[in-house]
Amino acid sequence: MYKINENYQKLPGSYLFSTIAKKVSAFAEANPQKEIIRLGIGDVTQPLAPAIIQAMHQAVDEMADAATFHGYAPDLGYEFLRTAIAEHDYKARGCDISADEIFVSDGAKSDSANIQEIFGQDNRIAVCDPVYPVYVDSNVMAGRTGTYNAETETWSNVIYMPCTMENGFVPEFPKEAPDIIYLCLPNNPTGTTITKQQLQEWVDYANKIGAVIIYDGAYEAYISEENVAHSIFECQGARTCAIELKSYSKNAGFTGVRLGYTVVPKDLKCQGASLNQMWARRHGTKFNGAPYIVQRAGEATYSPEGKAQLKEQVAYYMKNAAAIKNGLGAAGYTVFGGVNAPYIWLKTPGNMTSWEFFDYLLEQANVVGTPGSGFGPSGEGYFRLTAFGSYENTLAALERIRKL
Ligand SMILES: Cc1ncc(COP(=O)(O)O)c(C=O)c1O
Repeated sequence: MYKINENYQKLPGSYLFSTIAKKVSAFAEANPQKEIIRLGIGDVTQPLAPAIIQAMHQAVDEMADAATFHGYAPDLGYEFLRTAIAEHDYKARGCDISADEIFVSDGAKSDSANIQEIFGQDNRIAVCDPVYPVYVDSNVMAGRTGTYNAETETWSNVIYMPCTMENGFVPEFPKEAPDIIYLCLPNNPTGTTITKQQLQEWVDYANKIGAVIIYDGAYEAYISEENVAHSIFECQGARTCAIELKSYSKNAGFTGVRLGYTVVPKDLKCQGASLNQMWARRHGTKFNGAPYIVQRAGEATYSPEGKAQLKEQVAYYMKNAAAIKNGLGAAGYTVFGGVNAPYIWLKTPGNMTSWEFFDYLLEQANVVGTPGSGFGPSGEGYFRLTAFGSYENTLAALERIRKL
């Protein structure tokens, strides 16, 4: 008789956003006259930029002609896109990354969940707390996280690095040495980040203890401060200890288009094996390439027009972020983030739990946010609002919250 992967049985509750969706639809059904503003899920709302649409149209036309038709894409990505990434995202920033160290994919969610496959079962992972839940959940599915304690909402074999108001949301080196360190910077959900110097210390630490850093740079385009690195490969020594994940979802609005990439440097070696070759083998076996049309869309993000249009789009969302941050701050809330990321992280008022504040905001202001506790135990007592709504909705939500 067949057996299931019992690790799936260990996963607690349902996924955060499905719980939110259920609560919101129950409220909407009971209150059909109320207009709900959604600042919960981190999905974009602005349409694709004209330069991207133009590239996609052109690629669609190529698919209509046998002479220019494209079938299976190379499973590691088209050369034109990998070269553009190496040039614009790395060489232009002084990072030594070549096209054959870049693996094009359908987004950072799958890469961040799949990357653990190339590591042994008995590795100990460390995560920032709170953080994007996929890192822990994918390791739970792989059976690497030990037992779950429902009271503390922690796994016995996961090292949590609390990021709270008290330490300025900056992760500290853990007491026990981890093998795999997940860093998501700028961080989802806190919207905070660390300086390039602090990141350099993480690189030095990883090299010293023989750990690998999985660096999720999904929000890199939102960095506005000078002393923050746009890639971990800006740090000395990162080529021997880091893997970087990138996404076109937040910088170019590709949440529904689907495109991302992972950088695995050739200098990253363990037990005599090249992780670059291992990931190439894994990718080649389990992934059949991102669509040609989508990769041409990705290429268009690097054209002069594409770059200018995306800069404007990011500025649009960051104007929302500033409005929320300043507005809530003026209304007496304690607010963080919103400077290098499109997320505002606020302390729930009056010692409310994250879910209590979620219900309060939904019922009293008809605004949907995300409870901080959904991102890890140290997220309890915090709440996330996203800047990805329209400017009008953002201001309207703000006004409603201010009136509470
Ligand atoms: C930190 C982080 N990484 C990855 C993703 C997923 O990115 P993609 O849309 O490329 O799968 C998200 C999406 O919200 C995210 O917040």
